[in-house]
Amino acid sequence: MSGALSVRQQSSADRETARLDLADLYLYAMRVGMHLLARGRLKRALRYLVQPVPYWRGLEYRLVWDAARFTPGDRILDIGSPKLLALYLAEKVGAEVHATDIDAYFVNEYTLLRRARGLSEQNLAFDVQDGRALTYAAASFTKVYAVSVLEHIPDEGDSDCVREIGRVLRPGGTCLVTVPFWPVSRDEYKEPDAFYWAGSSKTRADGRVFFQRRYSEADLFTRLIEPSGLALDKIAFVGERVLAGSDREFGDFLPVPSGPVHPLLSRLVHTGPVDSPAALVKPLCAFVVLTKPTA
Ligand SMILES: C[S@@+](CC[C@H](N)C(=O)[O-])C[C@H]1O[C@@H](n2cnc3c(N)ncnc32)[C@H](O)[C@@H]1O
Repeated sequence: MSGALSVRQQSSADRETARLDLADLYLYAMRVGMHLLARGRLKRALRYLVQPVPYWRGLEYRLVWDAARFTPGDRILDIGSPKLLALYLAEKVGAEVHATDIDAYFVNEYTLLRRARGLSEQNLAFDVQDGRALTYAAASFTKVYAVSVLEHIPDEGDSDCVREIGRVLRPGGTCLVTVPFWPVSRDEYKEPDAFYWAGSSKTRADGRVFFQRRYSEADLFTRLIEPSGLALDKIAFVGERVLAGSDREFGDFLPVPSGPVHPLLSRLVHTGPVDSPAALVKPLCAFVVLTKPTA
C-alpha cells in the first residue's frame, strides 16, 4: 500500500517537473509583475505584465527544462540568468538554485521577489559572479545552465566560461546552454546604451561595444564543447519558418505591445528542435547538453 502510494507520489512529481508548462510559467510571470507593481516598481512590473514570456525565452526555457529533468535534490547554477527561470525553478522544483550574473543589478529586485514568493535563501541564492572565473568549489553543482549568455562574453570568454562550468560540475552532472546560431561565425557590436551589461563587455576603438557572437556549427565544437572538457550528450537546432533569405529575424520586427502573444507567435514561427542545422531553412539557435564523465 505504502509502496503504491510512493510510486503515485513519485510519478506526479515527475510529471510536474519533466516538461515545462509554458502556460503556467506565463501566469507565474504575471504574478511576478503584480508583486513588483504592488511594491511600486512600475517599469519592471510592466516588463513582466506586457511580455510575460518573451518570444525566444519561452522556447529556450523549454529546451533547458525538458532536457534537464530537474529534481528537488539538485544543486543548480544559473549563469547570467538571474531572471524568471531561476525563480520559477526554485519554487516549483524545490531544488537549491544559485542565480548569478556578472552585474549586481538583479539582486535587489530578486531579493524582493524571493520574499514575495516565500522562498528561503537556501532555496534561491543570488551571487554576483563572472562566468569566466567562478568562485565556487570544484564539483559543487549537479546541473549548470546558461540561457543566451555565453555569446555575450567577449574574446575567448565563452570558452573560459564553459571550462569553469566543467570544473564546478559534479561527475555525472549536466550542463545545458543555448546560443545564437548562424551558418558562419558572426560578431555583432552595438552602441553602449543599447544593452544593460555593456559596461561588462568590451569596447572597440570606434566606441561600439561587443554585443554577441553567432556560432557556426564548427564554433560550437571549438569554442564550447571541446574547451569544456565535458562529453557531448545532445546538440539540437531551432529556427524560424519565415524570412529564409534575410539577415533579419521575425523576432526583430515584434513591437512591444505584441508581448502578450509571444508564446503564440513562437508556436507559429519557430521550428521544433532538430539534430542538424541543414534540416532547417533558417537555423537561429543551438542547444547543447554536456555531461561530466563519472570516472
Ligand atoms: C541576454 S541576457 C541573459 C538572459 C537570461 N538568461 C534570461 O533567462 O532571460 C545576458 C546576461 O549575461 C550576463 N553576462 C554577460 N557577461 C557575463 C559574464 N562574463 N559572466 C556572467 N554573466 C554575464 C549579462 O549581464 C546579462 O544579464
